[in-house]
Amino acid sequence: MQQTQKDITILAIESSCDETAAAVVKNGREILSNIIASQIDLHTLYGGVVPEIASRKHIEKINQVIDQAVIQAGMTLQDVDAIAVTYGPGLVGALLVGVSTAKALAFALDKPLVGVHHIEGHICANYLQYPDLEPPFLCLVVSGGHSHLVIVKDYGEYEVIGRTRDDAAGEAFDKVARAIGLGYPGGPKIDRLVAQEGNPDAIAFPRASVGGSVYDFSFSGLKSAVLNYLNECKMKGVEVNRADVAASFQKAVTDVLVSHGIRGAKEYGFHKLALAGGVASNTALRKAMREACEKEGIEFYYPAPILCTDNAAMIGAAGYYEYVKGVRSGWDLNAVPNLKLGER
Ligand code: KG4
Ligand code: ZN
Repeated sequence: MQQTQKDITILAIESSCDETAAAVVKNGREILSNIIASQIDLHTLYGGVVPEIASRKHIEKINQVIDQAVIQAGMTLQDVDAIAVTYGPGLVGALLVGVSTAKALAFALDKPLVGVHHIEGHICANYLQYPDLEPPFLCLVVSGGHSHLVIVKDYGEYEVIGRTRDDAAGEAFDKVARAIGLGYPGGPKIDRLVAQEGNPDAIAFPRASVGGSVYDFSFSGLKSAVLNYLNECKMKGVEVNRADVAASFQKAVTDVLVSHGIRGAKEYGFHKLALAGGVASNTALRKAMREACEKEGIEFYYPAPILCTDNAAMIGAAGYYEYVKGVRSGWDLNAVPNLKLGER
């Protein structure tokens, strides 16, 4: 895409789940600031995200993170060209905090407002990591709420060719981690435990395939298989090796993600494959996908871990491309908890 002459800076706001985040991004590619106030410690007490607590915490933190983002970027609020905000999908109360704040700021400052799809943000994290990356490419988006295989046809143009039929990949990580007593959030804890110990071939967990699209995912059967295994061990009085369970589960997830990604890239003729979303920071997934891509001659892209999990810089990147296309949101912009990719 031809870049406009003048630099365009976007103030971006993200509050769809349990991170209150604000960032300033230049020309969709350069991070000037990226402030994230995580609520993880708070939700850990309850074993998962409590929506009402998340909304209240967002309200407490949002002005602070916006101030910090603007100061760290060396700017004032008046200097930004537009305000981008995640308006879905996500927790409705949490989204509303970001959306209302962005609308109030845009109105008061007389700046354009751009509503951004959260998953589009995850995909665009790759543009921040790789300033020369251009569409088209294939992107595997794996987060706590979503598992999508997406063709990125152009900036802002997406075709979802595979999606989860039940649990998202991150959700499966979180549920299995809870079952083996690792606590929340499960993904990073399983990742760390397996990196230290654990045999991925110790237990034969299923690699589910589903009817319909060959690119669809299903992780709830795998989660049930882990729970059944744990129950069986308990009934037989056999001691559970948590690291082996975690490693075998993680291998079952990554095998499916890698095989779907590579199959999609080959069948659709893509030479570029990108990862996105919280689970994309998983060490074993990154390693397995890198090796598979190398074998197939596919270029592999993956954002730094801080850009994989929820952040506002990715919303700034996505917001930039929507902004230069002329997309503007009205004062009626609302939170849309189940917003589909490609919908407005
Ligand atoms: O993208 P994200 O921050 O939020 C959503 O949009 O859902 O993803 C959070 C998810 C959680 O389920 C978390 O357990 C998982 O990403 N996650 C990981 C890792 N880091 C975060 N899963 C596996 N390995 C990791 N290292
Ligand atoms: Zn996310």
